[in-house]
Amino acid sequence: MNSDQYPHLRRLRRNSTLRDMLNENRLSVSEFIYPMFVVNGTGVRTPIEPMPGVDQMSVDIAVEEAQKAMAAGVKSVLLFGIPDDKDATGSGASSPDEAVQRAVAAIKMASPETYVITDVCLCEYTDHGHCGIVNGNDVDNDATLPLLAQTAVSHAEAGADMVAPSAMMDGQVAAIREGLNEAGFSDTPVMGYSAKYASAFYGPFRIAADSAPQFGDRRAYQMAPNQGREAMREIEADLEEGADIIMVKPALAYLDVIKEASMRFDTPLAAYNVSGEYSMIAAAGQAGWIDRERAVMEVLTSIKRAGADLIITYSAIEAAQILARG
Ligand code: PBG
Repeated sequence: MNSDQYPHLRRLRRNSTLRDMLNENRLSVSEFIYPMFVVNGTGVRTPIEPMPGVDQMSVDIAVEEAQKAMAAGVKSVLLFGIPDDKDATGSGASSPDEAVQRAVAAIKMASPETYVITDVCLCEYTDHGHCGIVNGNDVDNDATLPLLAQTAVSHAEAGADMVAPSAMMDGQVAAIREGLNEAGFSDTPVMGYSAKYASAFYGPFRIAADSAPQFGDRRAYQMAPNQGREAMREIEADLEEGADIIMVKPALAYLDVIKEASMRFDTPLAAYNVSGEYSMIAAAGQAGWIDRERAVMEVLTSIKRAGADLIITYSAIEAAQILARG
């Protein structure tokens, strides 16, 4: 074989400067969103066992964490609230005195440049752990919508910059948009968890947020992993309802869905690098079976390469520090 008979791709890989010049997908700290779990109380920082490096934090500690994120260059956080008491309708979700509403206000006060996004769902607040009102064995879609709208409004009133409904109820984006507009928050964007799958990779989150369903599962509202085209319909529905940002979740087992959504829709696209994806790397890293830092960056790069504009990741601060080191 004569060497001009095949393409010489290795010519452009011989030198690190050249490799850097030709980098197709450069991660940037500005696209990271850092999720945090807030609880009531003060001075509380409780480690989440399956997510080493991620803690439940009371409001005062969450403020420090948001400032730490900001110092690392991570300017956006996604807050989840965990209440002390749960009930059938998840009434704590829209209470102005709950941890998440207080955390929003405290973070905006201490760190006004931090862009605060809130997760809007009932599962952390219901005693049955489902994402909506339960009627018999079913989650009642339309009875849940006003509660989600009220929750979103309570977050906006506390000062949230953006709200992100994750309950997978049909019509939730429209209900929240209408609720926000009526309450005078027509400038508050909605990021829909548009294509959210019923995934085993949420396991560690449900320990972190104490939100596992007490009976049944979420398959009557979250999507089956087998579904690709249906994800496009879910995204279209969110766009019709007025979503400003769309999302695919989880990320890693659904990179094809991210890719397709990024090619099909011009709306900014977020991908959620979920708890189980974090835990796998953390556990393998602790065991010495994988190079944690390289694995984190490889995963985030793959999500970007698939076409995500925003990446929600528990590794945001770590990745920002790695990027800053160069
Ligand atoms: C609430 C919600 C969940 C996640 C984000 N919002 C859990 C679920 O649907 O069971 C999962 C996030 C993660 O695993 O990191 N509905």
